[in-house]
Amino acid sequence: LGDPRSNQHPGLLTFGIIFYRWHNVIASRVQQKNPDMSDEEIFQRARRIVVGTIQNIIMYEYLPELLGQSVPDYTGYKADLHPGISHIFQSAAFRFGHTMIPPGIYRRDNKCNYRKTRTNKMAIRLCASWWDSDQILSNSTVEELIMGMSSQLAEKEDNLLNNDIRNNLFGPMEFSRRDLGALNIMRGRDNGLPDYNTARVHFKLPRRNTWNEINPEFFNKNPELLRTLMEIYSNNLDNIDVYVGGMLESTDGNPGQLFSAVIREQFIRLRDADRFWFENSDNGIFSKSEIEEIRRVRLWDVIMNTTEIDDDGIQKNVFIWKEGDPCPQPEQLKGEMLDSCTPLRKYDYFEGSELVYIYACVFLAFFPIICAGIGYGLVKLQNRRRRRLKIVQEAIKKQNNDNKNNNNNQRGVVGSKGQICVDKMIVREWLHANHKRLVKVKFGPESALHIVNRKGENLRTFDFNGINVIAVEESQESEDGKALLLLRIPRDYDLVLELDSLSSRAKFIAKLETFLTCHKKHLSIVQINRDIMIAKAETKERRQRKLEQFFREAYALTFGLRPGERKRRRSDQSDEGEVVTVMRTSLSKSEFASALGMRPDAVFVKKMFNIVDKDGDGRISFQ
Ligand code: HEM
Repeated sequence: LGDPRSNQHPGLLTFGIIFYRWHNVIASRVQQKNPDMSDEEIFQRARRIVVGTIQNIIMYEYLPELLGQSVPDYTGYKADLHPGISHIFQSAAFRFGHTMIPPGIYRRDNKCNYRKTRTNKMAIRLCASWWDSDQILSNSTVEELIMGMSSQLAEKEDNLLNNDIRNNLFGPMEFSRRDLGALNIMRGRDNGLPDYNTARVHFKLPRRNTWNEINPEFFNKNPELLRTLMEIYSNNLDNIDVYVGGMLESTDGNPGQLFSAVIREQFIRLRDADRFWFENSDNGIFSKSEIEEIRRVRLWDVIMNTTEIDDDGIQKNVFIWKEGDPCPQPEQLKGEMLDSCTPLRKYDYFEGSELVYIYACVFLAFFPIICAGIGYGLVKLQNRRRRRLKIVQEAIKKQNNDNKNNNNNQRGVVGSKGQICVDKMIVREWLHANHKRLVKVKFGPESALHIVNRKGENLRTFDFNGINVIAVEESQESEDGKALLLLRIPRDYDLVLELDSLSSRAKFIAKLETFLTCHKKHLSIVQINRDIMIAKAETKERRQRKLEQFFREAYALTFGLRPGERKRRRSDQSDEGEVVTVMRTSLSKSEFASALGMRPDAVFVKKMFNIVDKDGDGRISFQ
């Protein structure tokens, strides 16, 4: 039964079940009468008839009993009438029914034996069974409940609501506390209902001029209540909430003038504005005889056709109990006679989910850090890939160039086993006693070593083209555990590396060896005393001094020396060594550029260098 409210309390669920069964009873009758009808047609026809019987029962059986007055006969469909539910009906008047709710439900059998609960109580307590109707129904029959309810008297129609629907609505299933009376008042304010007196005038009822006029008989019995009412509304008769004023009008058994007028007007309008109303013979749904048939169906008939209750098990007018009807109720129910309400408690949304909650919080706290980490990792990975791709591209480019220049000798990136000879290692370069720096030594891909700084800028490149044996000196063990390694680079200053340990040096040498083997070159390693190695090393500074000498001589040659000076120089024995040094010194393009204070890729440097570098070996010298 789709609407969750049908489970709200056992009485309501019982009626849901009865009408569900009623549909099936009608459907089988329709099928018997019309054996050719499809399932869908049978369903639709039965549905129409069930809707018709409900309309008939509510309009012509329940409403007159509720209002204590008859309703006018049907005169036909009125197309210009608004069929909607009015706010005053929804938020106030028809909530009149709330005052009639008893705190429990009786159950009985055909012989007027009232069934007690397991705890030996007279009836099922409302506030102990909210939304548990299915459990009650599995332990009681529909018949027991219907017979109990037909003999049970409703609560008095007055200003009071029973405690079950005030402080215990809907027990632990909803908010910790709801009060239906307060809800009804507040709902009227939410919906912008007018005050009680204005509403009365709208429904053509005389305005109340004194408080007592609302319900003289009632207030004579309850003068205290009248005083409280006047106090609450600050003695302003035109400020009373419709629900409050309307409920106070209630007479014994029926709603008062205002609510009766509202309810009556609403039901008549619902009927007359409904094109599909069962009595509207113009809509073609029912024939005149079928309409008459539906009009004869009362709630008693529905109950008899859907339950196993005997014909005389309940009175024909099931809405009212009067003297002589089967089984009067044992006594009017009061909360104290019944089970206590299911205790109210707060609903703990975290119960059972504490760990998940903690994990969620921790995850959310670390989420930005994790994201940043992943982002950083991705960027690094991307850069690494890009660098590798660039290296491979350069290698391929270089290989193509080599192929062009040298058809036979293929040099470059691919080793004899087909592997790409590319590797790298971060080491410390020893420049002089007080200057060391971290650099990355990149092996290949062409037959060259690249020294790159931490920003990725190329500092030096050692091209091994034309060199078959690369000489390496390694220092003998030192006290501080540091291991030096010197790579002798012909016509360039040496590369001196300081490694943290002997094992790191061994690792570097292994990489270098693999790389050289890849390029069909050999490594010659000699061991030498650390101090001697440093003393003999052609460091950048020493190289710089040589270059300065070179340029001095170059400028002297270019601009000519005074004869006396040249002579003096020639006769100077110590000069001979310098001249030899100068003659042997050659410059790379970057050294040439640096001597001119320009960038190596500047057009001027390139052009000048190419003019002088006649043999095209990438170096220039006096020779
Ligand atoms: C055990 C019996 C009942 C309970 C627990 C109950 C409870 C409620 C609750 C909780 C609401 C919603 C209140 C709000 O938030 O505005 C409501 C609305 C209403 N009730 Fe009841 N009620 C019961 C019986 C009745 C009866 C017997 C009638 C009338 C004969 C009735 C007429 C209404 C109407 C007209 C509304 C407004 C419906 C709407 O919002 O459209 N109720 N009821």
